[in-house]
Amino acid sequence: MKDFIIIGHKAVTAPFSLNDLPGAAGRMDILCRCVNAALFLSHDLRRDVRVYLVLKGEPAPPKLISFNGAEVRYLSPDERSAASLIKKALEKNAQDFWTESMPGVSIRKGELGDLLAELGKKIIYLREDGKEVRGMRFDEPLFVLGDHMGLSDEEEKIIEGREHENVSVGPLSLHADHCIVILNNEMDRIEKHI
Ligand SMILES: C[S@@+](CC[C@H](N)C(=O)[O-])C[C@H]1O[C@@H](n2cnc3c(N)ncnc32)[C@H](O)[C@@H]1O
Repeated sequence: MKDFIIIGHKAVTAPFSLNDLPGAAGRMDILCRCVNAALFLSHDLRRDVRVYLVLKGEPAPPKLISFNGAEVRYLSPDERSAASLIKKALEKNAQDFWTESMPGVSIRKGELGDLLAELGKKIIYLREDGKEVRGMRFDEPLFVLGDHMGLSDEEEKIIEGREHENVSVGPLSLHADHCIVILNNEMDRIEKHI
């Protein structure tokens, strides 16, 4: 599996209005675009991809939401569709273990450190000043990306305390969903021997 973790520092942790994803929902639009960039092909889904969102906004942080490309249903490639599945997950009473809210979508209480420990993989931390991604081969990768705020010092310390590598997708600072598209494309090229 290819795993992507995206951290939403302001993303709310209670059900929200689908009409104001960037504002009242705490830049939930960024996380929705990341879900779509990670999972969607034209007329299909990437079944070997899982997306994990770390929601750190009020009123009940932190919460984790997962989308499993092999199992997800009722997801279409628009922000509102992903947002609606996130909202449904937040309607569940999140526990210390995963609870499925809709097929392929689950929620639990927890923070970045809990998720990294659970997945137990080497971390590929996306940073503008990391090692050039082109030509790299990834085996069961776990990518970590920030939202519009990047990662906090505390989050970087958590990553630095585990096996990790800093990787860059280019010299300019991009939106997180654009980085995900590039990463998927780089892996596609390696897999298809292009
Ligand atoms: C919009 S950027 C964050 C910008 C934020 N102001 C900062 O200074 O960190 C969102 C995330 O995309 C990733 N990112 C952006 N450009 C990148 C690049 N060229 N290479 C690798 N990762 C990148 C990083 O993980 C970053 O946290």
